[in-house]
Amino acid sequence: MKAVVYDNYGPPDVLRLEEVARPVPKEDEVLVKVHATTVNRSDVHTREANRSSGLAISVLARMVSGIRRPRQRILGSEFAGEVVEAGAAVKEFAVGDRVFGNSSLRFGAYAEFMCVRESARISLMPAGMSFEDAAPITDGGLNALTCLKQADLRKGRTILIYGASGAIGTAAVQLARYFDADVTAVCGTKNLDLVKSLGADRVIDYTQEDFTKNGQTYHVIFDAVGKHSFKRSRDSLKPGGIFLPTDGLENLFLALWPSRKEDKRVVFQIPPRQSKQDVIFLKELVEAGKFRPVIDRCYPLEDVVEATRYVETQQKTGNVVLTVDSR
Ligand SMILES: NC(=O)c1ccc[n+]([C@@H]2O[C@H](COP(=O)([O-])OP(=O)(O)OC[C@H]3O[C@@H](n4cnc5c(N)ncnc54)[C@H](OP(=O)(O)O)[C@@H]3O)[C@@H](O)[C@H]2O)c1
Repeated sequence: MKAVVYDNYGPPDVLRLEEVARPVPKEDEVLVKVHATTVNRSDVHTREANRSSGLAISVLARMVSGIRRPRQRILGSEFAGEVVEAGAAVKEFAVGDRVFGNSSLRFGAYAEFMCVRESARISLMPAGMSFEDAAPITDGGLNALTCLKQADLRKGRTILIYGASGAIGTAAVQLARYFDADVTAVCGTKNLDLVKSLGADRVIDYTQEDFTKNGQTYHVIFDAVGKHSFKRSRDSLKPGGIFLPTDGLENLFLALWPSRKEDKRVVFQIPPRQSKQDVIFLKELVEAGKFRPVIDRCYPLEDVVEATRYVETQQKTGNVVLTVDSR
């Protein structure tokens, strides 16, 4: 089968198309013919062994993905496709089912076929959805959900979402809205209308206004794009308020060892837990018209290097999809 592989950590052009053996499903796995996948921050960070996040994070990342070179040659965590074979013990899926999900650090979706355990983060696709639309449901959706679950969002609670136009941000605005919170979203000028249309009660253009200086306070501040900090957000939190980060070693320490002097905290689920139930929850939200992944651009799998370079500009709006044409 055709797959995008890489054998060394490095820039986007370490990725190349190659003919590789088609995987064979184990008893508890399905073989999925992949129709669409995405380029997300997980793919990008893993491919460069998290070099851009500093030495400590890079060493930790290599312990997970391979010290000298990547253990898994095929990236791609989000997928949407069709079941073409099911292991003998598989009960939930049958040949012909349209499925989507997230293989997380097992990756493998930049290929014509991939094996996925029945119990993993895989579900039937939302009814009536295309493969291209279904593939990007889980990355932003699951990451946002994992963080927002820590925040006890409900009517009367206020949240500010910083970086509301990225994969996680666009999902977070919709989910916070679904949980009935009052949502203030912060993004750049070109994305104001989009973010408002996703359900934000108000939007702040960070090129025009610094939310930390306008005197407003929130129960929750979610840095959905890793560009803000607890320190800079502290005065914009109400007493007992929480700061939700998406990454950062400093945030990990602040979450593990909170200050005893103040009741404002950094909250980060350690380790992050994302389940199959969460994928089904997102599918049901899509079907109820409460959630839709935002797609910026769509590239054929062959253009993975170009797509990756675009994601690395950190200027994508929502998600970047790769279509896998298996003819
Ligand atoms: N996605 C993942 O797989 C994953 C997993 C774990 C952790 N994370 C972390 O989660 C964070 C977000 O990831 P993502 O994939 O959602 O991001 P993303 O989609 O790449 O975010 C792109 C958006 O960020 C906005 N942005 C860029 N610079 C900004 C700034 N200085 N202030 C505010 N917004 C800015 C841009 O919008 P504007 O034009 O509107 O500014 C752009 O639309 C990252 O820190 C990442 O490391 C991601």
